[in-house]
Amino acid sequence: MSDKIAYSRQGDIAILTVQNPPVNALSQAVRQGLSEGMDRAEADDGVRAVLIVGEGRAFFAGADITEFGKPPLEPHLPDLINRIEASPLLVVASMHGVSLGGGLEVALGCHYRIAVPSAKVGLPEVHLGLLPGAGGTQRLPRLTGVEAGLNVMTTGRHIGAQKAHELGIIDVIEDGDPKQNGIAYAQRLLDEGAARRPVSEMPPPAPIDWDAAFEAILAKGRGQIAPAWCVRAVQASVEKPFAEGLKAERHIFYDLMQTDQRQGMIHAFFSERAVGNLPELKGIKPRGIQHIGVIGGGTMGAGIATAALLAGLEVTLLEMSAEAGQAARDRIERNLSGAVKRSKITPNQHDQILTHTLVVVTNYDKLSDVDLVIEAVFEDMDVKKKVFAELDRVCKPGAILASNTSYLDIDKIAATTSRPSDVLGLHFFSPAHVMKLLEIVVGDKTAPEVTATGFAVGKMLGKISVRAGVCDGFIGNRILASYRTAADQMILDGASPYDIDEALEDFGFAMGPFAVADLAGLDIGWAVRKRKRAEGHAPKRDATYADKLCEDGHFGQKTGKGYYDYAGGLKTRVPNPDVLPMIEADRARLGITPRSFTHEEIVRRYMAAMVNESAKVVGEGIARRPLDVDMTLLFGYGFPRYRGGPLKWADIVGLEDLLKDIKSYAAEDPDFWAPAPLLERLVADNKTFDDLNKKG
Ligand code: CAA
Repeated sequence: MSDKIAYSRQGDIAILTVQNPPVNALSQAVRQGLSEGMDRAEADDGVRAVLIVGEGRAFFAGADITEFGKPPLEPHLPDLINRIEASPLLVVASMHGVSLGGGLEVALGCHYRIAVPSAKVGLPEVHLGLLPGAGGTQRLPRLTGVEAGLNVMTTGRHIGAQKAHELGIIDVIEDGDPKQNGIAYAQRLLDEGAARRPVSEMPPPAPIDWDAAFEAILAKGRGQIAPAWCVRAVQASVEKPFAEGLKAERHIFYDLMQTDQRQGMIHAFFSERAVGNLPELKGIKPRGIQHIGVIGGGTMGAGIATAALLAGLEVTLLEMSAEAGQAARDRIERNLSGAVKRSKITPNQHDQILTHTLVVVTNYDKLSDVDLVIEAVFEDMDVKKKVFAELDRVCKPGAILASNTSYLDIDKIAATTSRPSDVLGLHFFSPAHVMKLLEIVVGDKTAPEVTATGFAVGKMLGKISVRAGVCDGFIGNRILASYRTAADQMILDGASPYDIDEALEDFGFAMGPFAVADLAGLDIGWAVRKRKRAEGHAPKRDATYADKLCEDGHFGQKTGKGYYDYAGGLKTRVPNPDVLPMIEADRARLGITPRSFTHEEIVRRYMAAMVNESAKVVGEGIARRPLDVDMTLLFGYGFPRYRGGPLKWADIVGLEDLLKDIKSYAAEDPDFWAPAPLLERLVADNKTFDDLNKKG
């Protein structure tokens, strides 16, 4: 028998214990072992019940995702589950840790389910671009009804044992050891003479308006198709006999398996885990961090302080005056109240944090104790240099000095201190207690141990941390500058900001670039443009409409007007009628005759600029691997997860065609559209960006 399943017996009960660390994924060997275990139990004299239980952290985390995209191996999971359910023996699942996807489907194929109170269940297949493909769409609604079942599978959320019990998914909740609980429960059932209870033999639930549900879920998914297809599979569970419903589910599952969205989602799943796993940091021990200092209590500093406080760290925040300190404290208080509303902390914890864990000071000497200090002051090199000189003076030896700068040169900042090896960039994204991305900017002299500590802090704060090298804008903002330039140039040539936003929102971005600019504040881009012009880096055809908006006092959402007018509320944006005339004035000044752009061309150019710059960022070593860029754009810039990231998207659409496009655009502006050498090399070698990820 497969060594992934241990067979044992207690009285009339056969026990199949799953041993496939770390999370008992249902690999071929596990499926084989379960099938053999059922055969053995049925042939074992005197056995009347079978208990399936997991060893280690989980019941089952689901199908083995590493097998996806490869030829399916027997026994197939749906057949195995049907085989378990059809057993003449009484089959019991005892669940602990997670029972996800195929794992929950195995449990649904058992006749009874018991769980410990901390157990969690879910059908997260939509997060992999799939739907439950081993009977989940057919069995779950028979227990929960259509509405609750669809909610579980279209959101992919994890549900606690209590809720799962209320929904009818779990029969009994009992604290204690899952194996002993399972044995006792199976024995009770045998003693009571309980009958086998196959879910497939239960009556189907009542129908709903399937087309309306399909359309509503499709619209909510911003182009993601898997959740909507759950509706069609559940419809089959109601309208067809069980065996036919299973076939319909399988059919949709295989169709989804062939999609680009499945590829993108699975790339995101593994990249999200690989991004913090840098070969260069193997075996390097991070420094201990308990107490952090934050310099500056504006939106960013207060957000960073909030993130640290929510992670249980002590925070000392420095402001320039008592009034500014109070304003910072008020901001943090508001953030923490939001966390109470979202049930992240209790009201009691909120009060504790404000009275005991947060200290606001106005004197640098109070930072002598901190293990890490993060500076979040105004983006000006001279100001930063002064701050770092002070930090160098007061911070204890071994303290890490970090800057939250979004584009300034970390090496220059480090050079103002006597300990450049202790300096790095920790670039948060606003609001810092909400946004998942953290760029860890490693300078020339940053010690590996300091970088490792940056990653450890990111983990404590629940961030997705990406290693970035030093350049203007690091990974994310450097790439953003490039695709924004492409968008600005399309506007001069005839597209409107509203066409561009619509095209990219249809592509799957949460917001188009002009809606994002309004949200972030137009003054930010204005400051960057002024700096770039002063440094002689203005684009050849330099537009001024965005500056005019700012000169008129329109900074986007915070002033109620920018590219859009928010008079009707932040959620009901309408185009600001002043914008198009400003753009037309620019076109007239530059002698441009506008032309029209299809949504397809807008996406193609925007994405070509994004991919080309991303390839430069990887080629220059600013990002170590293509997946680092993909995760930056996914977690910091609203890139649609189901497309995997810009470089995964590029692999899927084909690098050769993209390079051709870039070369054709280069005829208009050879400097901006200069092809990335890495992209040219990959095309010449017939390779993909993903091949570089695999090198590690
Ligand atoms: N298959 C293969 N490997 C898996 C896996 C799976 N289903 N789930 C987790 N792993 C791996 C992870 O890649 C990771 O590997 P490394 O240590 O090499 O990086 C390791 O197990 C531990 O995982 P995490 O770091 O994520 O650990 P965690 O404790 O933070 O989270 C978890 C554990 C909640 C199970 C999380 O890993 C998770 O959500 N996994 C995916 C679950 C899922 O989507 N299941 C559905 C599969 S699809 C399916 O079942 C289809 C079907 O109907 C047939």
